[in-house]
Amino acid sequence: MDTKINAPTTLPFAWYSDPAFLGREQERIFRRRWQYVGHTGQVSQPGCLAVARAGDLPVLLARDAAGVLHAHLNVCRHRGTQLVAEDTRRSTIQCPYHAWTYDLDGRLRSAPRSEGEADFDLEALGLISLPVACWGPFIFVNPDPDAAPLQETLGELPALVASAGVDVDALVFRERAVSSHAANWKICCENFLECYHCPVAHPGLTKLIDVSPEAYRLQEDRWYSSQFGPVKEDWTGDLDPTGSVGHGQFHFLYPNLTINIVPGSPNVSIGSVLPDGPERTTRLLDYFFSPDAAESWIQDLLAWDARVGQEDTRLVEAVQCGVRAGMPDRGILFRDERLIAHFDRLLTDDLG
Ligand code: FES
Ligand SMILES: [Fe+2]
Repeated sequence: MDTKINAPTTLPFAWYSDPAFLGREQERIFRRRWQYVGHTGQVSQPGCLAVARAGDLPVLLARDAAGVLHAHLNVCRHRGTQLVAEDTRRSTIQCPYHAWTYDLDGRLRSAPRSEGEADFDLEALGLISLPVACWGPFIFVNPDPDAAPLQETLGELPALVASAGVDVDALVFRERAVSSHAANWKICCENFLECYHCPVAHPGLTKLIDVSPEAYRLQEDRWYSSQFGPVKEDWTGDLDPTGSVGHGQFHFLYPNLTINIVPGSPNVSIGSVLPDGPERTTRLLDYFFSPDAAESWIQDLLAWDARVGQEDTRLVEAVQCGVRAGMPDRGILFRDERLIAHFDRLLTDDLG
């Protein structure tokens, strides 16, 4: 039965747990859009190989001998074996199953016993390569061979990040946080997209950042949306927000990228929201800091952010428990949740 309401609404609750729906999202969203897959520090030298995911596609980043960065499907052309299981350094890519061997640029170099096969064409059986592009140290892949340039998707986002006082090229990678959530990936994205819950759920964050509707600014662009949080004049708490970055920025690039800049020393945490199943999501967050950020401040930020993350995990898992039954059929969105509506519109457009 449809709820009769005269207010902006969420997506239908059924969309958050239906396995067939996730299949459509993989096909129509994750196979078509630019996605963050890692950083240049993972593939800094010729021969460096890094494993990643774009939606459900296994991706292999490879720096070839000439220094060119490639993104290949991490799938052997023989019988489909995953080629590389973890980040490593090699002069070729050799399948662990029957030892088909590929050059770092993806060309098939040799296949044992292939001389006995009629019409075996090495050249036709290179790895499937995907469009790859960088914004500073951040690497993006798009599974669509006809993808428009990454720049068109990023738009003014790099300028916004620079305006916070962060030079992304000067940042140093610190660590990757990986977390698993018993919730649909869209619930994780939507939770990121509003701070209406912050006064209720995040005591540590709200001691530092002014999340009142008057101060906390929301902004939408074509493919991303942004939240700007000024430091409270009477801030307290465990993280010192004074430094060259004067306010917080929290960006979301459709379909699944979160980017955080916390006030204090220059910093970025960036990472994808990856569906593992209709009701299970992995979140990655790569932390970068300016080289002169104090070690004690970095540790304070990591601890502060981990607490916020744990608070969010409880929230998104509770939403999943509630929406699973699909009754009522959908929820309500307030004005301060309009970035969720922006995300929902892009998603609905992609799904047709
Ligand atoms: S599956 Fe890779 S060589 Fe056979
Ligand atoms: Fe939150």
